[in-house]
Amino acid sequence: MALFLDTGNIKEIKQSLDMGIIRGVTTNPTILAQSGVTGGMAGVKKAMIEIANLIAPYPLSVELTKNDSVDDMIAQAIEFSAWAKNIVIKVPIHGPNGEIDNLRVVHQLEKKHNIRVNVTAMMSVQQCFLAAMAGATYVSLFCGRINNMGYNSIEDLKLLRKLLDMHKLPAQIICASTREILNVVEWLDAGGHIVTVVPKFIEGMIVHPYTKETVQMFLNDAKKFQG
Ligand code: E4P
Repeated sequence: MALFLDTGNIKEIKQSLDMGIIRGVTTNPTILAQSGVTGGMAGVKKAMIEIANLIAPYPLSVELTKNDSVDDMIAQAIEFSAWAKNIVIKVPIHGPNGEIDNLRVVHQLEKKHNIRVNVTAMMSVQQCFLAAMAGATYVSLFCGRINNMGYNSIEDLKLLRKLLDMHKLPAQIICASTREILNVVEWLDAGGHIVTVVPKFIEGMIVHPYTKETVQMFLNDAKKFQG
């Protein structure tokens, strides 16, 4: 899987898709607002259907906006997942006040409703391990935010991957909250299955000043053969 794109911007998704370098897209309400999605929930639905169709069969993660009750969250997840076959439901590991019922939602969606889930907003190995135990298809470790707090997400990734492999848990680790270009390869190297990249890093991953100079040298010398 390797790379997902962390955006709700169609133009950015098309550009990476055309280059064949992404295998999925992740969104959250903040990303959608920043990507210019408007028109309330109808606008969100329209944008998500457009992106899901564009990237199919690759997965599109769409985050729940409800967190009042297990039933409401499950109902909204069923509604979102009906928008397109490749929609994955993002469920935060717990609510804003530490409500722990969210893992019941994860478990029921995966096991009872056959809906794929990406458990999100996770800052620790413990959270990711329990989400994997609950049956989540994807566990999103917010590596950049972990680093921002002064901890080392590389060590967390190594331990998490070791535990998932040791206990034969099929959850895929998504390394989220990319903060710098180096994060992509260092997090994959540490054991992440997928890094979700912010679009502004794509050009920086491709373009190198010494490559520019080298290609210019080839083009200059090529002129010697062109009559
Ligand atoms: C992706 O799934 C996450 O929602 C995203 O990477 C979070 O990024 P942030 O920590 O920069 O808000």
